[in-house]
Amino acid sequence: MDKALAGVRILDMTHVQAGPTASQLLAWLGADVIKLEPPSGDITRGQLRDIPGVDSLYFTMLNCNKRSITVNMKRPAGKEVFEALLQECDVIMENFGPGVLERLGYTWEAIHARNPRIIMASIKGFGSTGPYAEFKAYENVAQAMGGAMSTTGFEDGPPLVTGAQIGDSGTGLHLAIGILAALNARHRTGRGQFVEVAMMDAVMNLCRVKFRDHQRLVHGPLPEFSVPTEQCTATPRGGNDSGGGQLGNAIRCKPGGPNDFIYVVVQEVVWEALARRVGGEEMVNDPRFSTIGERRKHQGQMWQILEDFAANYTKRELMALLNELDVPCGPIMSTEDLAEDEHVQLREMYVPLEHPQRGGWHNVGMPIKLSNNHVPMTRSPLLGEHTDELLHEILQWSPETIERHRQEGAFGK
Ligand SMILES: CC(C)(COP(=O)(O)OP(=O)(O)OC[C@H]1O[C@@H](n2cnc3c(N)ncnc32)[C@H](O)[C@@H]1OP(=O)(O)O)[C@@H](O)C(=O)NCCC(=O)NCCS
Repeated sequence: MDKALAGVRILDMTHVQAGPTASQLLAWLGADVIKLEPPSGDITRGQLRDIPGVDSLYFTMLNCNKRSITVNMKRPAGKEVFEALLQECDVIMENFGPGVLERLGYTWEAIHARNPRIIMASIKGFGSTGPYAEFKAYENVAQAMGGAMSTTGFEDGPPLVTGAQIGDSGTGLHLAIGILAALNARHRTGRGQFVEVAMMDAVMNLCRVKFRDHQRLVHGPLPEFSVPTEQCTATPRGGNDSGGGQLGNAIRCKPGGPNDFIYVVVQEVVWEALARRVGGEEMVNDPRFSTIGERRKHQGQMWQILEDFAANYTKRELMALLNELDVPCGPIMSTEDLAEDEHVQLREMYVPLEHPQRGGWHNVGMPIKLSNNHVPMTRSPLLGEHTDELLHEILQWSPETIERHRQEGAFGK
């Protein structure tokens, strides 16, 4: 089948999570992604290993559909390989710490001068400008600084990180979008450009509605919050409040385990049907719940009634029951629930793969489904698995030329 990004070749120098998640996505959209690794490999190959000596799931789950070449960028022969590949690629991607590429001699200006068509895509914790530009960053640093942590959790508890990797994978998504836009612009101009996404900026973008609430505070308290906001000068932590125009909460269900909850949105249009099912005509006619304004004021009591009702059902039973009433709701799914879920299987969102070192394993699927350009998922590459293949295929180097570079330390430590 044809690939949406057929003909786009990416020199992928990214490491850890933020960059690799973007290049993996572009590979699933059909780009030819060449993962250029230091001779020791992307550090995640060895991090959080579940099987000794085997590429970790951390690595395998972020580097599918790529080919790997090792290049020692600190050796002249390695730089020669890099510069030759640079001529043949459409995009170069990196998420090194501040100043790393510059120290190697490759500023954007230097790369652009060598190949004016190439697009350079870069992730930094805080971008290349501003007082934080020199700082390194990881996922939770970005969540802390982009507004996510201060607005996550309960009012009487500490700030919390979210399980969703919005700092790393969220930034990667933004970068992929920037690259696609730059590729489109290049069709018109013939020139590449520099695409930069700062992790802090990406998290702020994902916290957009929290800045909506921040500015609303100037004009008075936020009635949809279950905590008082009269004294707030910044958006508070809202616990499991819905954060939107409708009320919502996580309701405990039978049998009371750590994930036996269902998230229920009390959408205005379904209130009457929901109230009738949960508390009969008495609840429908209860003045405490007669309007959304009253329900907001008395939401503690409303949630208690819903929770008493939910104690008779499992989260799956409640999902079925509430969906019959058209109530938007979702059981709190554990990773175990999801790995076994029929819907997830049917949507190809937990994909079985084989790996030469580890045998069978699963990757989370590709959430963007293209009707004409489906790319089957393939396993992550072993370190340097395609070094010779790529040099031969892309640079037409002979085995002798490759061997000479090998002797000069281009691919090794
Ligand atoms: C993630 C991060 C904190 C990791 O820091 P780190 O492990 O110290 O790695 P750095 O990127 O700073 O440095 C990598 C080093 O490997 C070297 N290196 C990388 N690829 C190489 C190659 N192919 N050959 C030789 N050396 C290589 C670099 O030259 C650099 O060495 P130097 O410090 O002597 O200049 C940092 O890369 C960072 O802040 N990145 C930007 C933000 C980001 O993406 N964070 C999220 C990651 S999920």
